Amino acid sequence: MKRGILNRYRDFLPVTANTPLITLGEGDTPLIRSLSLEKELGCGELYFKFEGCNPTGSFKDRGMVVAVAKAVENNSRSIICASTGNTSASAAAYGARFGLKTIVVIPQGKIAMGKLAQAVVYNAQIISIKGNFDQALQIVRSLTEKYPVTLVNSINPNRIEGQKTAAFEIIDELGNAPDYLFIPVGNAGNITAYWKGFVEYAQAGKASHSPKMIGFQAAGAAPIVQEKIIERPQTIATAIRIGNPASWQRAVAARDESEGIIDCVTDDEIISAYKLAATREGIFCEPASAASLAGLIKMAAKEDFSDKRIVCIFTGTGLKDPDIPAKFAKPPAELPADLATVEKALSGVIS
Ligand code: F0G
Repeated sequence: MKRGILNRYRDFLPVTANTPLITLGEGDTPLIRSLSLEKELGCGELYFKFEGCNPTGSFKDRGMVVAVAKAVENNSRSIICASTGNTSASAAAYGARFGLKTIVVIPQGKIAMGKLAQAVVYNAQIISIKGNFDQALQIVRSLTEKYPVTLVNSINPNRIEGQKTAAFEIIDELGNAPDYLFIPVGNAGNITAYWKGFVEYAQAGKASHSPKMIGFQAAGAAPIVQEKIIERPQTIATAIRIGNPASWQRAVAARDESEGIIDCVTDDEIISAYKLAATREGIFCEPASAASLAGLIKMAAKEDFSDKRIVCIFTGTGLKDPDIPAKFAKPPAELPADLATVEKALSGVIS
């Protein structure tokens, strides 16, 4: 049975005698060695950390389990978040399981179907606003100043604490830190959390160095790259459609302290990486997740990674966003249930 991150990494987390060690089986996600892209891109070693294997299908569960455990410990009765979809799915799941009322504020029409379905099924109170994520977060922040409800966006430090455990897992599995970590950047909590995890584990003597943090935003939603708030962020990768990240400064600090880079990739580059992850490596991640691989492809065209060990984070599962493939692939033709017709359709495919 999976122990969950609170149990496994309790010495590095804000766990007290009164913290319930709750779990839905988050963490312990696969670190998958690349079989094809590693060679093609000229990397020494390339791994994908597939966070889509968490209980609600994204990395958010690592942070949410800590935020919810602390909310329960502090006798909170309700939690609230703004979300592009994954945070709301995770909050709704942990809230349901551990008896908290969950309120989620989402940008109307801009969250993937599967994520909305999760919030509905877990029975969260869903508020859909005619606005974007940044406006939703502003509203949620104001509400938590007025009412006794626990904020579970990544400005809640317990979220960052939980999410840093992914860095621990990478080091535990590889025996040391990688040279580079490629990661998508939206509200910028995750890059902050990974950096915190790498630094803490190195300080604890578990790694000899920390990786360069290489973050990627979507080109139409790249405030950190452009060094200005984007009022109307746009991208097919709705999870990272964010124009004013809450952890902006901490992401810049992670970039600079690690001597890394935060750059952006276009929607075309994101979709191309999304397809490659699936067709070459058998990994179905969501578009926002593929920003990490898109970024690696962009950098590998210019830089020599042949003696480098690289980890790319795939932050969520592609199953959440089943509408995306329809944007570039035709549905299969419908044939009669007849052997001869099927055989004919397969001529040249089977022999
Ligand atoms: N990848 C996925 C799949 C996400 O859902 C998010 C963020 C990110 C990457 C970016 O991570 O915000 O820590 O920089 N999703 C948030 C949400 C905003 O509401 O689910 P970040």
